[in-house]
Amino acid sequence: MKTLFLCAAESLRSCALTVAMALLLFIASARMSLPAQESATHTGVSPSAASPLGHRPWANPALPSAKRAQLLLQQMTLDEKIAMVHGVTPIPVHGYVGYVPPNTRLGIPALTLADGRAAVGNGAKDITLLPAPIAAASAWDVDLMNAFGRVLGQEQWIKGTNVALAPSIDVVRIPEWGRTFESYGEDPYFNARMAVAEIKGIQSQGPIADANMYLSMNQEDNRLKEDSRVDERTLQEIYLPPFAAAIRQAHVDTIMCAYVKTNGVYSCENDYLLNKVLRKQLGFDGWVMSDWGATHSTVDSANHGLDQEMPDSRYFGDKLKAAVQSGQVSQEVLDAHVLHILLPMFQHGLFERPNPGSWSANARNPERDAFSREVAEAGTVLLKNAHGILPLRTSAHVAIIGAAGTAQPKVEGEGSSQANAPYVISPLEGIRNRLGINGNTKVSFEDGSDLGKAADIASHADVAIVFVSTEDGEGSDRPNLELPGNQDALINSVTAVNQNTIVVLDTGGPVLMPWINRVAGVIEAWYPGQEDGNAIAAILYGDVDPSAKLPLTFPRSAEAIPTSRKEQWPGVNGRSIYNEGLNVGYRWYDATNTQPLFPFGFGLSYTTFSISHLAIKPLRPSRSADAISRRFAVRVDVTNTGTREGAEVVQIYVKHPLADGEPPHQLRAFAKVELKPGETKTAIMALDPESFMTYNTPTHRWMRRAGTYEILAGTSSRDLPLAKTISIPLK
Ligand code: BGC
Repeated sequence: MKTLFLCAAESLRSCALTVAMALLLFIASARMSLPAQESATHTGVSPSAASPLGHRPWANPALPSAKRAQLLLQQMTLDEKIAMVHGVTPIPVHGYVGYVPPNTRLGIPALTLADGRAAVGNGAKDITLLPAPIAAASAWDVDLMNAFGRVLGQEQWIKGTNVALAPSIDVVRIPEWGRTFESYGEDPYFNARMAVAEIKGIQSQGPIADANMYLSMNQEDNRLKEDSRVDERTLQEIYLPPFAAAIRQAHVDTIMCAYVKTNGVYSCENDYLLNKVLRKQLGFDGWVMSDWGATHSTVDSANHGLDQEMPDSRYFGDKLKAAVQSGQVSQEVLDAHVLHILLPMFQHGLFERPNPGSWSANARNPERDAFSREVAEAGTVLLKNAHGILPLRTSAHVAIIGAAGTAQPKVEGEGSSQANAPYVISPLEGIRNRLGINGNTKVSFEDGSDLGKAADIASHADVAIVFVSTEDGEGSDRPNLELPGNQDALINSVTAVNQNTIVVLDTGGPVLMPWINRVAGVIEAWYPGQEDGNAIAAILYGDVDPSAKLPLTFPRSAEAIPTSRKEQWPGVNGRSIYNEGLNVGYRWYDATNTQPLFPFGFGLSYTTFSISHLAIKPLRPSRSADAISRRFAVRVDVTNTGTREGAEVVQIYVKHPLADGEPPHQLRAFAKVELKPGETKTAIMALDPESFMTYNTPTHRWMRRAGTYEILAGTSSRDLPLAKTISIPLK
């Protein structure tokens, strides 16, 4: 009756379509009473189960995914559509943190979502705990990050997860951010490269990846209500690029909108961020899910671009159904949300390839344990090495001091990314293992709770190694950049009796080092995962040459940071003002001529390198090549001038013409080069067209200014000995 009534008001053609649709719905609902073998299983429907395809044309894998999604959508009732756009709680199957039940009538598989930035989280057992993403990123090795994603993806798939809630790709704005360890660091280009590598890795193994947390998610303290006040250019140039690359280069299929507000509007109902930027500007065709509890409305969220509420149906269940029925949210809008979810499900083969995994499956194997160690070794940054104190001689008597010497070293951050390590090798154990093989040395140990006892063993040792840490995690920022508790005092009491003191930092981000001039060595080991002790022993004794570089700046003092004012962080009256603008991280230190303690891109090795012969050539220099889209090849020779094998990271920064208003120089390419002693190799990198583009707020477009650009090459943001200029012509 309703259909006939609507027909009166419509053209004949659309009326015919409406009737056809109603008939299809009628047939489809009649099939609900088909025998059991025709209904889909929990994990999906295979083409044969759906055979003949007649009543499930979308089950035909030969059709394009978009077509299949459309065909399926046409069969869905309003209730079935609503069921796709929210999770359910309590989750009826064990494990996952988010769950959308299967639709057995139509053969739509369940969505099983699990956390995990360094391992499968949510209490899963029998997994591999990798180092924190900030550690993996410190290797400055996109192949390693791709492998990191593959391991995460494999283990999630084994656990039956088809949507892996990783990676976290936000640019780190404040050094105290509680979730710094989950991210890659402070540079948009660097984060973009890492995000692309990790997402491709995850999605190559079965699960759909989820780029989070979108956008301007830069603090924990007030994350549920904080309003990030950030200008459009900064948003586009600093905070957006990792997400843009995740979409365009890695085809990420879900994006998690964040808790915070951006310019007064919650992320998950932010028309500018979701509809205008994600969909229109970046062409995102996957789905936007809310962070857990980050949905705040029904109509605004639905109309402004949120596709799926997580973890439950507070706003996108009955309320959304009512809003669609009353016309506050149109049928087209709801259909678009459902399509955004169905399309990636088809593209990732979730309909044909039921995930065989289960939450109780054992995901461990020796290769992945070894990989965890490889990442920890590759991500450990050597920050100070006075008088070549490192690598240690195996004959040296070492005093190991600190909680990290106990059975509970700090190997991972807290919060939703916390995971159950299958085992943890403590540094004490790792060093004993190492010396058990090669050494004949004494190792003494104190946990550091008694400064006198710590000083006592240090005074009798050749070398004292103090392990210190921060307790970073989701939900709160660090109150300041000092090492918590008595750890600075511990270091001071050890350095008072032993000049050969080495500090090993297990921190989620930068810390202040008031003792820096009194220690002989500093190593940033981050949160190193289950292989902690083995990895740090390999670095300390030189089995592995340290080759990692900082992906964020370590400041000299609490005041000398880009966001030291309260209105910037944690904010005043619920607003956090991004008035440092584009000058995030090293950009600010350079723009204000502030000396960092350790600059972005910095890290030492046990060998030495020199770089020379910077050369830049346009790629595809044909006459027809469009000046705007032209890429450049950059070449730099790197020589290992020392006596042992090692790897150097060559970094290319671009300095824009002054009138652009850009920060002094910005990372635009890098390459890691492995070299034998005396060997020279040429690192070849590409400068993409984006290297020269800036965002023009009045026109809301990215543009490239004609002018002279300086190309700087070196081995940290503060060590750029080679320079050349290139001229970019008008279009
Ligand atoms: C976190 C997300 C996480 C979700 C589910 C939220 O609190 O911000 O990163 O995926 O919880 O555990």
